[in-house]
Amino acid sequence: MARVNQGQGMLIEVNNLKTYFFLDEGTVRAVDGVTFDIKRGQTLGVVGESGCGKSVTGQSILRIVPHPGRIVEGSILLHRYKGNGASETETVVDLTKLDPMGDEIRSIRGAEIALIFQEPMTSFSPVHTIGNQIMEAILLHQDVTKDEAREIAIDMLRHCGLPRADDVINRYPWELSGGMRQRAMIAMALSCRPSLLIADEPTTALDVTTEAQILTLMQGLQEEMGMAIMYITHNLGVIAEMAEEVIVMYLGKVVERADVDSLFYDPKHPYTRALLRSIPKIGRRSRVRLDTIEGMVPDPYNIPPGCTFHPRCRSFMPGICNVIEPQMVDAGGGHLVSCHLYDGKGK
Ligand SMILES: Nc1ncnc2c1ncn2[C@@H]1O[C@H](COP(=O)(O)OP(=O)(O)OP(=O)(O)O)[C@@H](O)[C@H]1O
Ligand SMILES: [Mg+2]
Repeated sequence: MARVNQGQGMLIEVNNLKTYFFLDEGTVRAVDGVTFDIKRGQTLGVVGESGCGKSVTGQSILRIVPHPGRIVEGSILLHRYKGNGASETETVVDLTKLDPMGDEIRSIRGAEIALIFQEPMTSFSPVHTIGNQIMEAILLHQDVTKDEAREIAIDMLRHCGLPRADDVINRYPWELSGGMRQRAMIAMALSCRPSLLIADEPTTALDVTTEAQILTLMQGLQEEMGMAIMYITHNLGVIAEMAEEVIVMYLGKVVERADVDSLFYDPKHPYTRALLRSIPKIGRRSRVRLDTIEGMVPDPYNIPPGCTFHPRCRSFMPGICNVIEPQMVDAGGGHLVSCHLYDGKGK
């Protein structure tokens, strides 16, 4: 497989994205003003507790937000590049402006932006062989013959660490183990060489050894193919392994953004610090209780005023944090944080 060489051009820019669910009980602001970008070939880690809007952010990019959810504000700019070197041309499309059922997003989904997630059984149909499903994806997006599609599928399966790929191709999804199915799903997602892979907790259901193998596999494929990865997880250990940049989400908002080293060695937001304290430390005696983050994530219909984390925050400043909504500020060297400890209001 040819290595892809590319500069660090912009790939995707999400600006002030708001995706809400309109339910009888009220409005859930699943994604509430999220801004971030991903450069070509870069891995962005997205972390945060359950329900903070990680998956809905990914669904918004792919325009697969389920009813009754919809994007209510913001833009998602996808930069597309054609040609090579000096003759390379760039065009930009705002994904929020596309018809979610239309041809343009269909041609982007799977081909330019691919998704893998926790349960491969839901991305494969049980009644068709793995091979037919991967071939179908290839034939949909690439101008190749059936035989060529079969060769590409076998080649991708092999690349994804399935040694007997010409046998696997004839199998049904339920005939494979969890780890093999996950590899087959990655093969299907990567068969069209997407420029962005959205990986939504792809290893959460696997044992630790298989997880480590899949992470190594993804890193290898990324290096070969030059794709960017948006890696969604609540596992900070996986973030440390995979990501270059990280965004930390809390209740639909990005509360901190930094390169992976700054985030781990110098976390700024009290929420990020709490998340880091909750990681099990190697060598720590198993009887010692781990720190968990105090308090519960608030009910999505009753979001606290001011900083939404204030009821759980160790650094809570009354009269400030429960009143004023913090804005993102640069705490130094591009390390962004949205917290009154850093914007001058708390001093
Ligand atoms: N189909 C839906 N209908 C209604 N509300 C939804 C739907 N999908 C997500 N939500 C709500 O949107 C918010 C964000 O959910 P999301 O699935 O993005 O969280 P997450 O960060 O991916 O969590 P997890 O770590 O559990 O996967 C939650 O409050 C959730 O209840
Ligand atoms: Mg999720």
